Amino acid sequence: MNSPLPVEFPESQDWLDCGWLDTLSRIRAPVDEINRRIVKSALEEKAESAGIGARWIEIGAGDGKLRTWLPEWMRDQVVHTEPSAEYLQQFRRQNVEAEPVEASVYDLPFDDASIDGVLGLCVFDALQDLPAAVAELRRSLRPGGHVIHFLDLGLACLETIFLDIHQAGKIPVPNYLAEPAMKPAAVEQALDEDEILNDLAVCSVDRFSQVVQYLESVGHGYGAPMRKWLNAWLDSPRSAARLFMDIVSHAGDRAQFMQMLIEVHHLTIAYPNLAMEANSVSTVSLFRERLSSLFSNENGFREASSEILVGREWKSPWPSLPQQCCYFGRFAGQVVAQRTARPIPIGRVVSEQAATSPTESVLVESGILFFHAVAK
Ligand SMILES: C[S@@+](CC[C@H](N)C(=O)[O-])C[C@H]1O[C@@H](n2cnc3c(N)ncnc32)[C@H](O)[C@@H]1O
Repeated sequence: MNSPLPVEFPESQDWLDCGWLDTLSRIRAPVDEINRRIVKSALEEKAESAGIGARWIEIGAGDGKLRTWLPEWMRDQVVHTEPSAEYLQQFRRQNVEAEPVEASVYDLPFDDASIDGVLGLCVFDALQDLPAAVAELRRSLRPGGHVIHFLDLGLACLETIFLDIHQAGKIPVPNYLAEPAMKPAAVEQALDEDEILNDLAVCSVDRFSQVVQYLESVGHGYGAPMRKWLNAWLDSPRSAARLFMDIVSHAGDRAQFMQMLIEVHHLTIAYPNLAMEANSVSTVSLFRERLSSLFSNENGFREASSEILVGREWKSPWPSLPQQCCYFGRFAGQVVAQRTARPIPIGRVVSEQAATSPTESVLVESGILFFHAVAK
């Protein structure tokens, strides 16, 4: 049996490692073009009201992925900021025409009320002190200025949420509870929005350890990979978050992990003291609640929208897709690959491209969590 946990991460890995930007790029590749259309459409709808010539900044720009998704008219209006010198170097290599600025969101080099709008892609979820960032954004923005944040991946989001789960004495796994093998009715009926976003199943570490010990004691092949996940989790929830994201973003690895969890579930359900008793949790929903509570009236903002924007496209199958897969969806980090398409899109469809050739038989959907607040 192949282990469903194929990737090792060094303990000390942090965001300031350019290898991570390459990983993000690779994960994004199958839906990169769709994401560009979603972002373009959202900005045409929301950002144009700030006016041509308005002064925008981007925070946590990394290597400049968001710049590649901006509508043409906006590119000259945005000053990209990023605190990491290493990331800035990569940004400059990939966007030679732009001059990014080294700055942390906690200490922006802009006068009070001098900015018309702030953009971010997968940044609010990566910050250690989001309340401090919200205060600094409010200082820099003029009244009526915009904050627009896109979350297309759940990696950093997972990191903060994994820390909370760790503190609560629990352990997360990919949400096997929502798999068709666990809920046969889900094959015919689309899972509703809440269910499909429930990317985690969470159970107590004690229970999980007991299950692992049991599997090892009977010499079951799943003992070793389950132990590997438990140890990764106990060693560092941060590294575990990255390992987790890497697994769920590879359809084959994710399917193996799910298969293992479902088999272990069925194996142990008969023993009351061993059943994992996991619950479904959605990291996207938890993150959404966090943003809504911080961009509040008291903090000088009003929330203008918080929704999932969806792009769809028919494409030719690619080698890493499971065979006979006719549907591939990625929703703020959650991946769904299956034989039948979901009839109901998960959010508001803002971009749709029909198949142009008979071989383009996979319906590919991407959903970005779009958050928009306005300074009061
Ligand atoms: C998940 S990466 C996203 C990078 C890029 N926006 C993208 O989506 O490809 C998180 C980014 O937040 C940045 N970041 C971390 N701490 C920050 C801070 N205090 N101020 C601004 N950005 C920060 C990191 O350097 C990194 O570029």
